[in-house]
Amino acid sequence: MTCWKPCARLSGITRRGAASVGRIMETAAAAMTPEAFFLKRVKALISGRTGIHVREQDDGALQTLLRERMRLLKLSSPEEYYRFLDSGEGRQQEQEQLATRLTTGETYFFRDKGQFALLKNTLLPELIERRGAIRSLRIWSAGCASGEEAYSLAMLLDELLPQRTEWNLFILGTDIDPEAIEKARRGIYTQWSFRMVDDGLQRKYFHPRREQWALSERIRSMVTFRTGNLLRAVPGETVDFRDMDLILCRNVFIYLAPNAVSRIAANLADALAGGGYLVTGHGELHPHQLGKLRTRIFAESVAYQRNVECGIRNAEFKPESMTGGLSIPHSTIRNPHLEARRPAANMANPGVANGGGAASSQSPIPNLQSRMKSAWLHANLGELEQAANDCRQAFKTSPLDAEPYYLLAQIAEERGNPGEAKALLKKVIYLDPAFIAAYLELAGIYERENDATRARKMRATAQDLLGKMPGDASLALLGNATAGELLSYLVKQKDVA
Ligand SMILES: C[S@@+](CC[C@H](N)C(=O)[O-])C[C@H]1O[C@@H](n2cnc3c(N)ncnc32)[C@H](O)[C@@H]1O
Repeated sequence: MTCWKPCARLSGITRRGAASVGRIMETAAAAMTPEAFFLKRVKALISGRTGIHVREQDDGALQTLLRERMRLLKLSSPEEYYRFLDSGEGRQQEQEQLATRLTTGETYFFRDKGQFALLKNTLLPELIERRGAIRSLRIWSAGCASGEEAYSLAMLLDELLPQRTEWNLFILGTDIDPEAIEKARRGIYTQWSFRMVDDGLQRKYFHPRREQWALSERIRSMVTFRTGNLLRAVPGETVDFRDMDLILCRNVFIYLAPNAVSRIAANLADALAGGGYLVTGHGELHPHQLGKLRTRIFAESVAYQRNVECGIRNAEFKPESMTGGLSIPHSTIRNPHLEARRPAANMANPGVANGGGAASSQSPIPNLQSRMKSAWLHANLGELEQAANDCRQAFKTSPLDAEPYYLLAQIAEERGNPGEAKALLKKVIYLDPAFIAAYLELAGIYERENDATRARKMRATAQDLLGKMPGDASLALLGNATAGELLSYLVKQKDVA
């Protein structure tokens, strides 16, 4: 299903200095070619940040794309590219570059006749009647590509509401692809976008402009477009994503990993007002838990409705008070709870399987586990304050657990405070002398401070600890590299030095 867009532009990002050595370690493996190893890492990173899942059969195409990106960015090795992708400056723009090339922005006006008939004849009239008293409707086209879907909704409402100007209509279109959003804002389309539109409608709302068609200002001004990643859109955090009467999220989930689909679907459900509808592409939500949504089956299509008892939104709600967008800060911090896989069964010390200490995410204390899961999730989304709060709560439950300190150290590094990070990492090691990730993280900081002796010492300890582990033990805190992969990388590094 994945399509590959031609590379259209160069990223203007500059490269930050060396990334944490801890992270470099995790990206190395002796068992695979560096290209294959970093391909695996890039896939995991993209999936973690955007939800986009690259299938194995598309690996070749991804490899070609990465080579092209490396050439354009003048990076000489897959490892350098991975570091750039995961670094402060690189990650947002470059991740967007990859994301937009790993999906297709294919769309057109009134795509799917059946669903638009359902919207026109059933869902929108029902919502219009329900909102008649407050004369306000809120609609979101999530994953709108170049805007045809959002504008189709605007045209429908224009037809359905003769006194439209007396209504407060908020129609939001969002997409991860900034170029697509730019195009949407322009509102100028080629004939190809009208393949399902009859001539009358096209002439009513568009006028020819050179070889293309420009949307009338009256309809264009009805829609607000924003760039944003659906995996990071947290309803309730900004006004934009609350109290939606209708959300269309169609032909987006097909590109995403199942856990990302579940998360986004839950977020979209939260963003709906009571009684509001979510419409997806046919079958896209089929195997997923629906939580607050119930399935409504219509002749033309299925729609998902949020339980009415979840509350009807405030009649005084004012669309013009909406601000912000989907842009939530990104983070280099990795979430082992998203990445974690089962450690090897024959491991002597299961705690070490995280690259962390005995209590880490294997902790038997459920409260701690869920706190840390939430902490990593927030950190992964760049919500560092919430992540730090979760860590502090975790201390209360389990003051001797090292993992919260380890995450706090990463947060301190992310905030540009290596002194604090070092102090926290020393605390991690004090609490759990077998916490490999902490030694590697410290080695990275010492190296950046040109303290080669201490860096070497930290790496040597990590190497000793790895030597005592089964080679196939998976290190969740180190991107699921195996102990053997990491060990041979460290040995090679030492040989090179
Ligand atoms: C095939 S288009 C769908 C357009 C429109 N909804 C339709 O059905 O015609 C899929 C769009 O999803 C966007 N997309 C993919 N992953 C996304 C994410 N994590 N957040 C936001 N948009 C995403 C892509 O950039 C692409 O423009």
